[in-house]
Order: sequence, then C-alpha cells, then structure tokens
Amino acid sequence: MESIINKASIGVIGGSGLYQMEALQNRQEFSLDTPFGRPSGNLVYGTIDGVSVIFLARHGAGHRLIPSEVPYLANLFALKMCGVKYIISVSAVGSLQEPLAPKDMVLPDQFIDLTKQRKTTFFGQGAVAHVSMAQPVCTLLSDLLAQAVAELPSQEAVQCHRGGTYLCIEGPQFSSLAESNWYRAMGADVIGMTNMPEAKLALEAQIAYATLAMVTDYDCWHPKEANVSTDLALKNLLENAGKAQTIVANTVRRIGQQMPSSAAHNALANALVTPMEAMD
Ligand code: ADE
Repeated sequence: MESIINKASIGVIGGSGLYQMEALQNRQEFSLDTPFGRPSGNLVYGTIDGVSVIFLARHGAGHRLIPSEVPYLANLFALKMCGVKYIISVSAVGSLQEPLAPKDMVLPDQFIDLTKQRKTTFFGQGAVAHVSMAQPVCTLLSDLLAQAVAELPSQEAVQCHRGGTYLCIEGPQFSSLAESNWYRAMGADVIGMTNMPEAKLALEAQIAYATLAMVTDYDCWHPKEANVSTDLALKNLLENAGKAQTIVANTVRRIGQQMPSSAAHNALANALVTPMEAMD
C-alpha cells in the first residue's frame, strides 16, 4: 500500500453498487489521514486516457458503513488534500415522482437536507463562514454527465432526467408512507441517504459537485408498484452498474478535456465572517 498522496483534479465518490472503477489504468491504492479522521476507505488513484482521477467508495470496503456512519468530513477533506476540484457523486435513489422510473437516471440540481445526526460543516471553533447553497450543483459538471449519458450506445440507452430535487433522509430505514407522501408534497423528486452533507462540504471545500442519481425504486408511495426493499434496490442497481461505469468514465474524459471553471471554485469568496488572518 502506498503512503504517498496521489494528486488528481477529479474525484469520484461511488455509492451502493459502484465500489470500484473498471476503466482505471495505472491504479495505485493509498490511505490518508485527515484532521477529521480517516475517510471511508483507501483512495484509489488511476488514469483514464491520461486523465488522473481518485476514486473513493462511500460505504467503505465491503459496504460496511450505514449512511450516518460515512465520515463525510474526512472524505471531502481527503479529496481536497489530493487536489480534487470536481466530484462526481454516484448515488442510488428512490423515485418520488411517476415519470422517474426505476433504472432511469436523474441529474439533480437541488437538495433538501432532512438528516438529523451528521456534522455538516468544516467551520466552527473560531472560524465562521456561511457558504451559499442556492446552487449546490455545478451545472457545467452536470452538463458533462448528461453528455456522457447521451453518448451511450443505443443498446445501452438510458432515460436521463435533467434537474430535480434530491431529498436526503438520515436512514438507514426507508420511509413510512406518510413520510413519502409528505416528501412528494414538498416537491422533492428523488430520495436518498447520502448526498447531504456531502454536497454542502464540497462547496465549503470549493469543489464543484454533481450527482449521477440512479433510480432503483418508487419508495413506498406508488399504489401499483412494490414498496422499496434492499433487494429490489440492489437488483435494479446491479442491472445499471455497467452503464454507470461507462457514464462515469466518459464524464472523466470530458472533464479532462475541458477542466471547466466553476462557481464552486470561489464558493468562499463571499462566505467568510472571520477574517482569514484570524484563522489558525
Ligand atoms: N436509496 C435507494 N432507494 C431509496 C429510498 N427509497 N429511500 C432512501 N434511499 C434510497
């Protein structure tokens, strides 16, 4: 195991069903410690057609961490230490709206945070900042994901929905029917357990962030469809895993060609209360 820090501008956080990146060449696995503890697992550096990328499995090796146990601060800090400027987050979600069917993909552009027991900021203890969450997703990065989805060969084509609100619950239990109906009434489109505080911390770290959300179920609100279960979600995820691999690899290639400048890269410009000189 390497103990050096490998550098890359692109980070991929793989959720349920995406535990590695098949397209990675020149793979080097390494561990990192951060001021916020250890990340979910070892980081995997590699290249795709010469573009450097760091992969991190959100739930750790062997999927051992429930969403509340994922060390989000350490994960984001570790990626920042590696020089990451863009994060592609791959995440399983339930659908809260009829047109978003299982095995479709969604590129959310908004989040609602209903988590209850997670540390959600790098700030505090003498350093105060209020980062804007008005536009939590980098549109340019989402555009590149959408282009990579559109470029799938016709036999692999997938329905991809641009935009939508991802509602994040604490879990690990799925929702009750009353909750599911409430989330729908709020206007949420998909439901998951991990993108908060990930997206908040990415902005605080001035890293552009976009999610490729893979729909696995209709949660439990749909009168004609099965209620979500782990087995159902995993089955649909696995059926789409190959497509997700191709989409992520092609997005990495596209980011590598363009390296778009993102508003996220300056997210702290108007956010700091404590003057930089006063921070340790
Ligand atoms: N991940 C996949 N499906 C989900 C659901 N219905 N609720 C929360 N997280 C999910």
